Amino acid sequence: MKNYNLSDLNDKVVVIVGGFGLIGKELCQGFCQHNVKLVVVDIGEKKKFIDGLNKINKNTIFHYQIDINNEKAVKQLFNSIIIRFKAIDVFVNCSFPKTPDWSLNVEKVKYGSIKSNLINHLGSYYNLTQQVTLIMKKQKKGSIINFSSIYGLVGPNFQIYEGTKMTSPSAYALIKGGINTMTRYFASYYGKYNVRVNCISPGGVFDNQNKKFVKAYEDFVPLKRMAKPEDLVLPTLFLASDGSSYITGHNLLVDGGWTII
Ligand SMILES: NC(=O)c1ccc[n+]([C@@H]2O[C@H](COP(=O)([O-])OP(=O)(O)OC[C@H]3O[C@@H](n4cnc5c(N)ncnc54)[C@H](O)[C@@H]3O)[C@@H](O)[C@H]2O)c1
Repeated sequence: MKNYNLSDLNDKVVVIVGGFGLIGKELCQGFCQHNVKLVVVDIGEKKKFIDGLNKINKNTIFHYQIDINNEKAVKQLFNSIIIRFKAIDVFVNCSFPKTPDWSLNVEKVKYGSIKSNLINHLGSYYNLTQQVTLIMKKQKKGSIINFSSIYGLVGPNFQIYEGTKMTSPSAYALIKGGINTMTRYFASYYGKYNVRVNCISPGGVFDNQNKKFVKAYEDFVPLKRMAKPEDLVLPTLFLASDGSSYITGHNLLVDGGWTII
């Protein structure tokens, strides 16, 4: 009888970009519980966190501290991963590059800022996806999971920001819409090489935001709560594992029903 569990993840080479973020940290923990060979890529440094992961994982965890917008550093990153591990089985990108003026209201956003955010976020997701698909094509296998958002699919509900200084940045719609279409493009091109490309679209994740915003968000969303980082772990493990071997080009919505209404 066939085994229906996630044990195929054991010993796989998994790269998580943005692994020190709100969602990324939880993903690292989830993958470590499956004893993967984990490579964490982040512009930041979190030694204690990596030490903690090493305690729950039998394989050693590697951290590469790079800016994913540095093309040369990205090339070196892939070279050294291949030299060390010989393969990349799973590639997850949950980084969140953004400019300091990211949260400005659409009426105040400068064109220069839109250009920077597009290139830094959508551009780096594209570059990483393009580089890793070339590696996976040679291997004739691999799973790529890029993080998108509900706002790549539907327009923002501006009512939930009323009475707060928060907004949904206009660049976000362009970037995440782009990640969704990019996912389908790469999935279509690389399907014949057994390389799967999917994305995950979380709803808003609770992170001690303004109380008024949280209440408005929870009132609107069918499941009546914001997402927790842990809600994203099993959906990501599923798309990484052979359990999803016939799924590609998909946008997995993990949104408490936000996009159904
Ligand atoms: N948090 C949410 O509510 C939410 C909702 C929907 C979608 N998402 C998406 O999920 C992903 C992760 O979100 P998050 O909330 O965990 O973000 P976060 O800001 O908490 O973490 C992002 C991580 O990316 C790293 N990073 C940023 N710029 C980088 C660069 N240039 N080079 C290398 N590393 C860089 C940061 O150091 C950080 O560790 C993003 O793509 C985001 O758009 C988040």
